[in-house]
Amino acid sequence: MAGSLACVGIGMTLGAHISPLARSYIEQADIVFSGVSNGIVELWLREMHNDVRSLQIYYSEGKSRHITYREMVEAILTEVRQGKKVVGAFYGHPGVFAHAPHKSIELAQAEGFEAVMVPGISAEDCLIADLGIDPGQFGCQQFETSQFMFYQRRFDPSCYLILWQIGLAGDKTMTRFSTGKAHRQLLIELLAETYPLNHQVILYEAAVLPIDKVRKQKLKLSELADAEIFMHTTLVIPPSEKMQPNQLLLEKLAKLEAKHHLAESVIA
Ligand SMILES: C[S@@+](CC[C@H](N)C(=O)[O-])C[C@H]1O[C@@H](n2cnc3c(N)ncnc32)[C@H](O)[C@@H]1O
Repeated sequence: MAGSLACVGIGMTLGAHISPLARSYIEQADIVFSGVSNGIVELWLREMHNDVRSLQIYYSEGKSRHITYREMVEAILTEVRQGKKVVGAFYGHPGVFAHAPHKSIELAQAEGFEAVMVPGISAEDCLIADLGIDPGQFGCQQFETSQFMFYQRRFDPSCYLILWQIGLAGDKTMTRFSTGKAHRQLLIELLAETYPLNHQVILYEAAVLPIDKVRKQKLKLSELADAEIFMHTTLVIPPSEKMQPNQLLLEKLAKLEAKHHLAESVIA
């Protein structure tokens, strides 16, 4: 099959994060679909390739994002089926909280085309660096905010909680570009079942242009409803509780170690 697809990540900060592999896929493509929302980033992509087609045209307020995603996938697959070497260049990591790249690759592969994903530096990677968080220190859970609200998720307040798409918190319609204070108030109520209302949370925005200032605004959970929140804002909730030792397992481990010790001393 002549057509192929590569969904590549170009990272968060213009020009600074793209890998040589992602750049090479872009430069060698027949067509590049752009999954970036920043106009300046898209101009930079156009310097790398003369046929860059924006996927942003499929978004519109009042239109279901389910339809938008289907149209994006269809646009990409149409060119692959025509035998073109297609690249989807997405900001961040193409596989992180992103439907169209995963779906396009799945369908292309199912139809017998070569299709790969090339990772990029995601908002989470930048967040780890900018906020000085090690997800391995206490553990880290992450959810899409609305999914976190719609379903009964089990989460652990002794680890970090990262909520993506907080700007769309509670959007059932899938047609809005943002929800507001009332929706966020319901999120606060949900979180307040676990965290104290004065627990400090962080609103994070990575730099997209090299001149951008990173946003790492600390505020109380209760202040979240009135805070300024955008499509590109991510909420970080640090642990509010200490990790509790698992006594039962620790006792089992101690018995196991004692058995090993005994066996070793018999052999010796
Ligand atoms: C559809 S997801 C795409 C994530 C992207 N694929 C990545 O690798 O980071 C959009 C969400 O990513 C997060 N995000 C996007 N841009 C961001 C930025 N500049 N700073 C912090 N978070 C960002 C926000 O939570 C936003 O709602």
